[in-house]
Amino acid sequence: MEPQKKRVFSGIQPTGNIHLGNYLGAVKNWVAKQDEKVNFFCIVDLHSLTVPQDPADLRFQTRSLAAMLIACGIDPQKSTLFIQSHVSAHAEGAWLLNCITPLGWLQRMTQFKDKSAKQESVLTGLLDYPVLMTGDIIFYDAHEVPVGEDQKQHVELARDIAQRFNSLYEEEFFIVPEPVIPEVGARVMGLDDPTNKMSKSLAHVRGHAIRLLDEPKEIERSFKRAVTDSGNEIAFSDDPEKAGVNNLLGIYKAVTGKSEADVLADFANARGYGDLKKGVAAVTIEMLRPIQERYQALMADPVELDRLLAIGAAQAQAISQPKVDQMKQMMGLVPPRR
Ligand code: AMP
Ligand code: TRP
Repeated sequence: MEPQKKRVFSGIQPTGNIHLGNYLGAVKNWVAKQDEKVNFFCIVDLHSLTVPQDPADLRFQTRSLAAMLIACGIDPQKSTLFIQSHVSAHAEGAWLLNCITPLGWLQRMTQFKDKSAKQESVLTGLLDYPVLMTGDIIFYDAHEVPVGEDQKQHVELARDIAQRFNSLYEEEFFIVPEPVIPEVGARVMGLDDPTNKMSKSLAHVRGHAIRLLDEPKEIERSFKRAVTDSGNEIAFSDDPEKAGVNNLLGIYKAVTGKSEADVLADFANARGYGDLKKGVAAVTIEMLRPIQERYQALMADPVELDRLLAIGAAQAQAISQPKVDQMKQMMGLVPPRR
């Protein structure tokens, strides 16, 4: 018999512009590994509400991210892709978890301390954010949670809350999840500053990022403006001086899947960095073209997009609602007569 596949839960905020770093560093890997594990991809719109949002904008960004993930190859037949607020078990179960989570655990969270220090008026939801996140994970019996370093503490809190529930009500009721720092496909640096990672929060800055929805002309312009150095040697290198050229070569390598030797062979006759930039732009545009076409088709067909999201929500609800119903029972709530 095939060993049981591990369950993986990934949460993605629908705010900020998804860029080439997100695709080459994360999404492309998720797509490639869809068959190895049982995957849940959750667009965490409730989490986005922990800071003020423009309603129309949040609605658009949520649908747009869903369409983009599908366009990138997340297959709703293979993975469960859904919008968090479509599955009521998340908000409902988070309340139950709130009632067993000591306040001090939340006040200790580094992200809360950092974010709340920067705000004049701090919303309760911001403090409670990791409890909602805990529910996302444990209502699915997820074993693994791929997260960046910044979210590790939240997954550790999820472990503590799961263990506390288990010891209060029933041993082994919740799987205690593990944070996994995912293999990085490629680390993509900012085109305007190749010593810093390409970042969502700077994706609106001209020349910083390639956004997955940028038009070919825009992509050419951004690469053309990319910071390099005053030399002319096209080589992979970890010299900070050469970080710009190294980043362009790294992008070319990740996009084409070629070996370093083959990448360099492609530029053996290049006359300077201009040719390198044109070459990287060309392969990037070709890679993004079918993704952009699928994205546009889905955004133009809201009925189809809604249909796919409804399938995901139904699958997610079928797993998480019974778990939350069991919790309610265990905690002493009277079940409604059906
Ligand atoms: P974030 O944009 O921080 O929400 O990250 C979403 C996912 O994309 C995470 O798995 C990150 O590790 C990955 N990611 C973000 N920026 C980059 C980058 N510049 N290069 C490679 N991977 C990235
Ligand atoms: N907090 C995560 C972030 O900002 C998003 C998230 C919400 C998440 N729920 C999750 C990540 C569950 C992993 C599992 O990136």
